[in-house]
Amino acid sequence: MPEGTPARAKDVSRIGRTPLLPVRLRVAGRWREVGLKLEQFNPGGSVKDRTAYALVEDLEDRGLLGPGRTVVESTSGNLGAALAYVCRSRGYPFVAVVDPRASRRNLDEMAALAATLERVDAPDAHGGYLRARIRRVRELLASDPTCVWPDQYRNPANPRVHREQTGPEILRHGSGRPDAVFVAVSTGGTLAGVAQYLRMVAPGCRVVGVDVRGSVVLGGPPGRRRLTGIGAGRPSDFARPGDGDQVRHLSDAEAVAACRLLRERTGVGVGGSSGAVLAAAARYLTERPEVERVVCLCADGADRYEDTLYSGAWLREHGFATGTTGAAAARTAAAGLAFDAVALA
Ligand SMILES: Cc1ncc(COP(=O)(O)O)c(C=O)c1O
Repeated sequence: MPEGTPARAKDVSRIGRTPLLPVRLRVAGRWREVGLKLEQFNPGGSVKDRTAYALVEDLEDRGLLGPGRTVVESTSGNLGAALAYVCRSRGYPFVAVVDPRASRRNLDEMAALAATLERVDAPDAHGGYLRARIRRVRELLASDPTCVWPDQYRNPANPRVHREQTGPEILRHGSGRPDAVFVAVSTGGTLAGVAQYLRMVAPGCRVVGVDVRGSVVLGGPPGRRRLTGIGAGRPSDFARPGDGDQVRHLSDAEAVAACRLLRERTGVGVGGSSGAVLAAAARYLTERPEVERVVCLCADGADRYEDTLYSGAWLREHGFATGTTGAAAARTAAAGLAFDAVALA
């Protein structure tokens, strides 16, 4: 391990045990309580700290990763920042294969943690970058036998950590058993793990997978997507459409409007996938007046989206202008949000 590397146990102990913040949403004129599980309080700033740690530990346990080895992964953002953090703390060099959609903040964070950035510039035949990134990972593995690939899209350690850690945490918060839990999808690992755990110990609790239109992770036709951190151009290897109790597809405009309303009214800043999850929870509450407790897993914070969904210029440039800027009421109505006010509980 290189000199000055922080001790392993210290880093591990800081991942997880994120807080649950109660907020109230006004849905069809009635205030309803929702718990926001804020994964931005992980040391690397997102739910992906848990995944990154589990992936690295899995490679070590299988004897594939140790001194002299380099971790290589395809990531458009949060997993890269999280792996950079975990690899740094364990003393492994890390190469992140990224694309032009990665946020400046995540790239800076990876670079600050000594990761090497390999940028893929040409999209693949499907117009996305995922397959192009994976092709580059395979080239790196073929050219350097010391490279190891955790493969977040297929490694069972991804859903496992959410079954063993994230799911149990959701029930430990002491605010009563939730009636429903909302989880955004990209690889589908978080959803699959949380759903597996809750189905075992709390069969009455519904687990809802939340995706944006245009993503094919849990089915649906492919299309243009403007947000990062949610959705993907390939189906999940972990979660199938029937694995959560329900799947909700939202527009990215709705996700953005939810993020902006939440921050404006409460000061709580979350990322786009959390906005989607909050908007999906509000729709669910509209349809189920009897539901009392709902938890939204908020995968990351606003800090990595200041130059995208919290920037007026970015919103205009990406065609969000109508309905997502101007007065809050006009924005929420134009975006079709199912809640029109939010407050700290
Ligand atoms: C912001 C954000 N939300 C949600 C997710 C979904 O996580 P998963 O890959 O476990 O489906 C990710 C994954 O990168 C993410 O970065």
